[in-house]
Amino acid sequence: MAEIYTSKYKGDDETGDGTKDNPLRTVLQAMRKAGQEPFPLIYWDSKNPEQVYGPVAKSQLRRVQKIWHKEQYKKASLDEASRKDAERREKAIEAAKKITIENDASLPAPTKIKLRDAVKTRGTRVKIFGWVQRISRIGKRLMFVIIRDGSGFLLCVMKNKLCQTYDALTLATEAAICVFGVISQVSEGKTVPDNHEMAVDFWEVIGASPAGGAKKLLNEEAHPDVQLDNRHMMLRGENTAKIMKMRSVVTHCFREHFFSRGYFELQPPTLVQCQVEGGSTLFKVDYFGEEAYLTQSSQLYLETVMPSMGDVFCMAQSYRAEVSRTHRNLAEYSHVEAECPFINFDELMDKIEDLVCDVVDRVLKSPFGNIVYELNPDFKAPKKPFRRMEYKSAVAWLRKNKITKDNGTLCKYGEDIPETPERIMTDTFNEPILLFRLPSKVKSFYAQRCQDRRRLTESVDLLMPNVGEIVGGSMRIWQQEELEEGFKRKGINTENYYWYIDQRKYGTCPHGGYGLGLERFLCWLLNRYRIREVVPYPRFIGRCTP
Ligand code: 4AD
Repeated sequence: MAEIYTSKYKGDDETGDGTKDNPLRTVLQAMRKAGQEPFPLIYWDSKNPEQVYGPVAKSQLRRVQKIWHKEQYKKASLDEASRKDAERREKAIEAAKKITIENDASLPAPTKIKLRDAVKTRGTRVKIFGWVQRISRIGKRLMFVIIRDGSGFLLCVMKNKLCQTYDALTLATEAAICVFGVISQVSEGKTVPDNHEMAVDFWEVIGASPAGGAKKLLNEEAHPDVQLDNRHMMLRGENTAKIMKMRSVVTHCFREHFFSRGYFELQPPTLVQCQVEGGSTLFKVDYFGEEAYLTQSSQLYLETVMPSMGDVFCMAQSYRAEVSRTHRNLAEYSHVEAECPFINFDELMDKIEDLVCDVVDRVLKSPFGNIVYELNPDFKAPKKPFRRMEYKSAVAWLRKNKITKDNGTLCKYGEDIPETPERIMTDTFNEPILLFRLPSKVKSFYAQRCQDRRRLTESVDLLMPNVGEIVGGSMRIWQQEELEEGFKRKGINTENYYWYIDQRKYGTCPHGGYGLGLERFLCWLLNRYRIREVVPYPRFIGRCTP
């Protein structure tokens, strides 16, 4: 470059390239860009109002040049130090190739254990397989390695030859290893997992990891897209793993809840030819030449098995082609749905309340309940009865408190309450709200109308602080004629719904059910703002990998 431009006002040291149109901000950065002396002419903001740029004053150049020289000197000595380091390391690694360790046959044969059983087996020789979480090397004769196996963590102490082999010197985080040794309690005051450590007497690498370990791919500060591209490695992180384990525990507790209440579980299809929640969020699939969709909800299928299975539930994937990237919506989510025959609307709301309270209770009482408080220290289990708020009271409350929609206007009676005002209202009450009797205009074709106000439906949403809606449910229209009117009103061709309509012909009955978004429930329980944090591999617009 023949000349470099800088500007205090419109320049930027990070994004600027030193041209007139895209100047750098500082003279020092201009020198760094030039890289060597003699520097090209460096310009800065001109004091002459007729000109934009003028050459940097000589005194200023000399002053900055001194700083640049110092920087160069430091860099050179650092380069030299790291070159020497690398040389030393190379030599050490060569020498280490000659050091070998052996599994001492005179020691007692080890028992293979998982880390969850480590406390029980203290004092005996054990063998554990796991992945390297952290390594610290203290001089040449001591190395601390923390391993994990999914069931726990263990501090392993490797001394002398054990930490001088080639494998020891090149060991990196995320390598899979096997350690042999005896675990014993450590003195009070040390903060190590389970308050014990293993004195390793032999170890081996099962699957090595590249130098630098997982940090080569990403770290906590990495750009969100880089983190998502490397979700497979993020899942190995301590926090993400905790969330995934809680997902497993919560799923188990939902099942336990339903089985304890006498429900049966159904595995419904996810490739379907019917919409449930409106055409705008349907994912279309070419199904051997026919049009099909990824299911939005398994509700209709659950309804078909009530006459043979009674109360029934499922935990299946649901799909919504949501075109906006929001922090609470996914394109694929886990849907906990239930359907119950011969109930009334009040009983339906009681069931939703019972579901949430009982599942939380089971999770907290499980051996992993403490993780809820680790991730969400302020968590308070909800208490029955939940606040029950009619839709019309919610609209009145929002209008009275001047809580507007995103476009600045107030909510109107008869319209859907959008996410923002709904969130503000729920956060203000700061407790679960069963919002009920929503207008039929905003509900699907199947929602049963209220006997006393035909424009309203026997429908309910459960709203939770910090998350918003986590459950949507309703009584279902159970008379054939009314159902067909519902289809007509929503402009749905009933051809593909003959089987659903048959339910109203063969022993129809009053019934209702609901769907709970597992991820939204987890966001609430574990206090996660972004729904993508609680799914192993999130799917949303623009993201289908890995
Ligand atoms: O309110 P929704 O659309 O209701 C239904 O699908 C009913 N057919 C369910 C039923 O009655 N069996 O969805 C139910 C719940 C919502 O309250 C929300 O928790 C979750 O499913 N949900 C989503 N979760 C994540 N991402 C999305 N895009 C979601 N859409 C709905």
